Amino acid sequence: MDKINKSFLIFFDKKKIKNSRLDNGILKFSPDFSYSTGNFSLLREKHSLLQFDSINKTSHRLNTILSRTNWDKNFFKNKIILECGCGAGPDTEILLKLGAKVISVDIAGLEVANKNIKKTSNHLFVQASLLDLPFKYDSFDIVFCHRVIQHTPNPKKVLKEILKFVKPKGNIFVHSYSNSFYQMFRWKYFMRPLTKKIKPNYLYGLIERNSNSLFIISNFFFKLGIIGKIINHFFIPFLNYRNIKEFKNKSNKWIIEYGIHDTFDALSPKYDMPLSKKSFISISNNILNQKNIKFEIFTNKSITLLRSIVD
Ligand SMILES: C[S@@+](CC[C@H](N)C(=O)[O-])C[C@H]1O[C@@H](n2cnc3c(N)ncnc32)[C@H](O)[C@@H]1O
Repeated sequence: MDKINKSFLIFFDKKKIKNSRLDNGILKFSPDFSYSTGNFSLLREKHSLLQFDSINKTSHRLNTILSRTNWDKNFFKNKIILECGCGAGPDTEILLKLGAKVISVDIAGLEVANKNIKKTSNHLFVQASLLDLPFKYDSFDIVFCHRVIQHTPNPKKVLKEILKFVKPKGNIFVHSYSNSFYQMFRWKYFMRPLTKKIKPNYLYGLIERNSNSLFIISNFFFKLGIIGKIINHFFIPFLNYRNIKEFKNKSNKWIIEYGIHDTFDALSPKYDMPLSKKSFISISNNILNQKNIKFEIFTNKSITLLRSIVD
């Protein structure tokens, strides 16, 4: 795609679009390198299609989106979605399949997602920071932000910023890891001060070399019941999805690959600061009440979600 579909232009701030450049179909506003180059970009390059439902032949992403948004499958049809922080594009694929028109933003490294997602007039990739988005306020039917805000330098500011782009009476879905004891006191947050400083390729190699042993150890603990699960969660530094129901037919080799991916994803990012429920509430009240958007904040030991309530 050499030109962008003109129907997308109405969503852009005219002054900002003048400073953009079109590069192989990606409309770029930010530099090609960012703090996520080397960690998220490295993962995208090494495992570009791993998380795609269409490739791994599961419904894991679809089910995750539907259960986390609490919206019906048909709700997405014909909606204009601003996807904030699309990564390699596994959610983009689902949103498009559900019939939405999507603008997917990431701060850098969109080349991989651009290869992964089939070109369609319903979709556009935009390289920009969530802290400096090039769109008009109050433009989108849905602002969708999944597994992103904790990885930005200022999650509160990002939340305040992205909510401005949803239409009055529109819809919103924002996910953050929860800042519960269960999340914050596990191996990841004890190791991160060191691991986020290790060169990404070295850290990746370290995780890869130890992945078989860690997989065996964590399977052993899973078999011990609840105590084993607690030991795995707090002390074994490997994300083992052997027990996820959608993955039950996948080979151990594939589960280990996913584990390497997600363990690196946990240990390498420069930023990982889950937003508290309290911050979600105060920011959302301020912005969404004015836009007449009914919403709820759902939280459990692992995640916190801001989502609009659909009647
Ligand atoms: C954990 S990945 C999640 C990707 C995708 N949403 C998913 O669920 O697979 C986080 C993404 O947020 C992007 N990101 C981080 N900070 C950003 C910012 N300030 N602006 C735009 N994207 C950002 C990263 O580049 C990365 O692709």
